[in-house]
Amino acid sequence: MNDDASPWWMKLSASMAAIDPAFAGEIDRLAEEQVDLMERALRLQAGDRLLDLGCGAGRHSCLLHERGYALTGLDLAPAVLDLARTAWTRRHAQQEGPRWVLGDMRAPPVSGPFEAIIAMDAAFGVFEDEADHLSVLVAAAERLVQGGRLLLEIPNAYYWACHESTRHFPPGTLAADAHIVRNYRFDAESGRLKDQILIFRGGPEPEALPVQSLRAWAPTEIRSLVQAAGFQDVRILGMDGWRVPAQPQPLDAARSAFTWVLARLP
Ligand SMILES: C[S@@+](CC[C@H](N)C(=O)[O-])C[C@H]1O[C@@H](n2cnc3c(N)ncnc32)[C@H](O)[C@@H]1O
Repeated sequence: MNDDASPWWMKLSASMAAIDPAFAGEIDRLAEEQVDLMERALRLQAGDRLLDLGCGAGRHSCLLHERGYALTGLDLAPAVLDLARTAWTRRHAQQEGPRWVLGDMRAPPVSGPFEAIIAMDAAFGVFEDEADHLSVLVAAAERLVQGGRLLLEIPNAYYWACHESTRHFPPGTLAADAHIVRNYRFDAESGRLKDQILIFRGGPEPEALPVQSLRAWAPTEIRSLVQAAGFQDVRILGMDGWRVPAQPQPLDAARSAFTWVLARLP
């Protein structure tokens, strides 16, 4: 799966686990705040069955499972699912954790049904072909109960169109022993946010990871795509810059780096 022919996101997943604590399954304050807001925005009820598409190392799946929901975490990368299993065992050695499933979100090998499906932190938006994004949404709709809810976290195109950003993470923040520099640049023609990650370990040249390239839809575009898969009541929520607000808030296009797209089935 991780040979030269594999897509960039598979190669990136493997490298990110080595440098980013979130990818390695460390549950940070951000994930806690996201799950707090998720419970409100999705109106979750105890015992709800939830599917986490592109669950990565399982930070949201683990937290939601701890809070009494029945989680299935799905990811295409076996290495990150191993990290997710380890993350759960580290926190709860004896207790049964989420169900971890290896598979492609375009055709998840799970039947559900689920009360809600989430795709957090750029798990949705990786595909080059828009038809693949629609396939993910159609597959999600098929696995939800009537009235089931959807949450997608995506970059806010309006924000990134005017905020090229370079962020420096000194040793001990992302990687334990290396400087990490991430450069985010919006490509208007493709409507994609490009994230170049460089790792400086002290040698003459940094290591460059595969460029993360994410579709960043404008609200009207993502609303149409979600509706094309049969969802309704599409709501676009905003963040406080990079931070998660305590309550659902409307999108302030200039201030919100990411948006949450919420929708439900009839
Ligand atoms: C940026 S990570 C986000 C992980 C997690 N949602 C989080 O917030 O910590 C994106 C994840 O999506 C997974 N992914 C990418 N394409 C996928 C696909 N077609 N089907 C399932 N998972 C996929 C990657 O392996 C990676 O773990």
